[in-house]
Amino acid sequence: MTSIATLGSHCALQVLKGAKDEGFKTILVCEKRRERLYKRFQFIDEYVLVDSFKEVMEQRCANILKENNAIIIPHGTLIAQMDSSEIESIKTPIFGNKWILRWESDRNMKEKLMVESKLKIPQSLPGPEHIKGLTIAKRHGAAGGKGYFLATNQEDYIKKRDKLVRDGIIRGDQDLYLQEYALGVSAYLQYFYSELSGELEFFGVDRRYESDIDGLGRIPAQEQIDVDLIPSFNVVGNSPLVLRESLLEDVYAMGERFVDAAKRLVAPGMPGPFCLEGVYDENGKFTAFEFSARIVAGTNLYVDGSPYSSLLYNEPMSMGRRIAREVKNAESKNSISKIVT
Ligand SMILES: Nc1ncnc2c1ncn2[C@@H]1O[C@H](COP(=O)(O)OP(=O)(O)O)[C@@H](O)[C@H]1O
Ligand SMILES: [Mg+2]
Repeated sequence: MTSIATLGSHCALQVLKGAKDEGFKTILVCEKRRERLYKRFQFIDEYVLVDSFKEVMEQRCANILKENNAIIIPHGTLIAQMDSSEIESIKTPIFGNKWILRWESDRNMKEKLMVESKLKIPQSLPGPEHIKGLTIAKRHGAAGGKGYFLATNQEDYIKKRDKLVRDGIIRGDQDLYLQEYALGVSAYLQYFYSELSGELEFFGVDRRYESDIDGLGRIPAQEQIDVDLIPSFNVVGNSPLVLRESLLEDVYAMGERFVDAAKRLVAPGMPGPFCLEGVYDENGKFTAFEFSARIVAGTNLYVDGSPYSSLLYNEPMSMGRRIAREVKNAESKNSISKIVT
């Protein structure tokens, strides 16, 4: 019998709850320091205790996972804590396309896939000397917004970069990717693409609360100017959003273009969950500043289903449960190889 495994962080609770609801045995690869937290939840059947998540690459973990016929559900923590070659070296089958995770981690590859998807994207800048308007400097990989900053000109950039280098958060220019800041209402669009049915399902939208940029709005402008602060974009939590219904057509069109582009650029494409992240402007046009090629933590909002999944399913369907359902469907069709790498 197949079991579902994931790393203990990010969206592990939602994923394993969904797997349990679909009848799977659930396994949590859990850092010893977090065992007490996760032991509170009855739907986790087995724990593989580790000192570091990197141990999933090692034989001991691989053996336990193999004995259980486990499939790993990848999420942001896997990408944040391991580099692409390490992820690719994991012997346990990974849900979705593990090769596309490299395209998520490398900002230049990421841009290429977004261009191929014909998404409207903010201009990226080859170097700080090109900064003309409001620009965001972001680190590579899923750094979670820590050490990202805004700059309006080269001088400003250098001052902030140097402070972050002194604080030991970044090494220097090589860690930063510069992109025009896109103004509008942020929206993180959550999708699931089924390789088995060929259908794209729009699952929900969230907004992110990022510290301390989202706290700044509570301070009057005068004090904002006076505090010597480089706001960062470290995500703290998520809140729900529904879109104007007239935007949905474009939501599906963008998702479909992304799925098609992924098929062309990085076989076997984009089976499973992904997220397009960006802002809507005053004309309802979406500019995507990035994507995640796996489940995002914003789906944690919808453990009992979202305003969109409820229209597609007559039962509570979280993204975690949808993943488990796909595994179940693939098993019954003898097509597991279509949904894992
Ligand atoms: N071009 C941009 N315009 C406006 N906001 C941006 C832009 N790029 C990133 N952000 C903000 O920074 C946050 C983190 O950036 P993102 O590219 O999503 O990096 P990560 O890979 O760490 O999630 C976003 O959630 C958003 O708030
Ligand atoms: Mg992001």
